[in-house]
Amino acid sequence: MRFYPLFFRAAFSWMDAERAHRIGFGAIRAVHTCGLGRLLARYTAPSPSLRTEALGLVFPSPFGLAAGFDKEGRGIEALAELGFGHIEVGTITGQAQPGNPQPRLFRLIEDRAVVNRMGFNNDGAAAVAPRIAAARAALEARYGAARPVIGVNIGKTRAVELEDAVEDYRVSARELAPVADYLVVNVSSPNTPGLRLLQSVETLRPLLAAVREESEAAAGRRVPLLVKIAPDLSDADVDDVARLALEMGLDGIIATNTTISREGLASPADAVEAAGAGGLSGAPLKRRALEVLRRLRAAVGDRLTLVAVGGVETAEDVRERLDAGATLVQGYTAFLYEGPFWAAAVNRGLAHTVAPARSR
Ligand SMILES: Cc1cc2nc3c(=O)[nH]c(=O)nc-3n(C[C@H](O)[C@H](O)[C@H](O)COP(=O)(O)O)c2cc1C
Repeated sequence: MRFYPLFFRAAFSWMDAERAHRIGFGAIRAVHTCGLGRLLARYTAPSPSLRTEALGLVFPSPFGLAAGFDKEGRGIEALAELGFGHIEVGTITGQAQPGNPQPRLFRLIEDRAVVNRMGFNNDGAAAVAPRIAAARAALEARYGAARPVIGVNIGKTRAVELEDAVEDYRVSARELAPVADYLVVNVSSPNTPGLRLLQSVETLRPLLAAVREESEAAAGRRVPLLVKIAPDLSDADVDDVARLALEMGLDGIIATNTTISREGLASPADAVEAAGAGGLSGAPLKRRALEVLRRLRAAVGDRLTLVAVGGVETAEDVRERLDAGATLVQGYTAFLYEGPFWAAAVNRGLAHTVAPARSR
């Protein structure tokens, strides 16, 4: 019998999901702040056999934490102590914004899923950058070259018109590229009106070119650049993004974000309806996320890093993504259900089952 799922039911399942997240994340940070995290890290550190080279970086494990958990870079060191090989911070926008009205995060427990319409709540690129810089310096001092990697995911400020999106992404790139190990252009959240229209090749090309130009000028080095796409793109659109990424010499693609589909759920229809609009994540996303990953790998061959995300719950799921062509794998929703030792358990399982991916 596993302890955390029982604890989850008793302590968290009755509570508003965003409040439970705040309390859980607060506890994880407190464990770090009081120094217990160092002890914990002895138990959670990934086996050296999992070390993975990708994007010109060394990752302690191919398995990392997807964007959205630590939106403002407040717990990077604490999350690293739980065993994640990378932590993708964000989505961060050019300007600070409160996100959508609460409640905006809902569990569908029968489906091991959540629906969220957070809407990029964050305190803006200029405020987040110094936090990431400090965490990066601390990780370097403590872990040296094989430190956990910090990805930075940027998106559009809601109040900025779609026509002005490029300038808004430029602001974020300027502030954040200097502190990022890799940078992700998020054009796939369903919770910022119009954002996903930026996935069309005609709008994506100038956006990515601007972010690359701005990030390299600000950082004074080549910052690996990836784009994160939605599972709801048609297969033809997935192929278009793959072609564009190759043509522009991007470093990788992250697939996938949450879905607006509600197909095939086990949860009662009234619970699904009560959750309302937003992106669905967790186990129901698995099939389509895997399909998109396979399609991308077939399209790009060995030329890009592919980061698989969507419905990953176990070491076996991670292995399946690596076998399907992923170089790195991420998860979020299962962390909410499985608890703080999730990454360590996945890494332990992986160390027994997987030869780590090598730079692709
Ligand atoms: C509450 C919540 C907030 C999220 N916020 C972001 C975000 O700000 N930016 C982003 O790119 N993805 C965000 N995501 C999507 C995740 O990074 C991931 O792509 C998606 O949840 C699928 O993975 P999972 O099934 O392991 O959760 C969020 C997901 C959840 C559940």
